Amino acid sequence: MDYQILVDEAFQASEKAYIPYSHFAVGACLLLKDGKKIHGCNIENAAYGSTMCAERNAVFQAYCQGYRKDDILALAIVADCQPLISPCGACRQVLSELMNPQTPIILGCKDFYQVTNIEKLMPLAFIGESL
Ligand code: THU
Repeated sequence: MDYQILVDEAFQASEKAYIPYSHFAVGACLLLKDGKKIHGCNIENAAYGSTMCAERNAVFQAYCQGYRKDDILALAIVADCQPLISPCGACRQVLSELMNPQTPIILGCKDFYQVTNIEKLMPLAFIGESL
């Protein structure tokens, strides 16, 4: 499947990033089964730990709108960097719970993208079923 449109939209989303500290813009675009797309970007804070990543903003926003993991067809995460952007540990934990294990996650830069999923990015994740 060609995910270039999703990658392009994620780069559009990255233009809205609030990044006064790192100047590192990240964008995300979730594709939903009803055809809707939801954008996310990173929003930083002077208390650095209060920063929120682009992909978590996108997935949280989808959940706020009532969507759930089965509604998600794909998630693109992009940044203009080399090596490719890859979700931080906190995002992997969140995506392990809020996305299905094999839903495509597209990691993109300006020139190319790579398709993976949360099962590959975070094997043996701690999940709610263990509680
Ligand atoms: N960031 C994301 O938004 N997503 C990632 O997958 C990695 C890191 C953000 C957080 C911070 O605003 C900036 O990139 C530098 O760490």
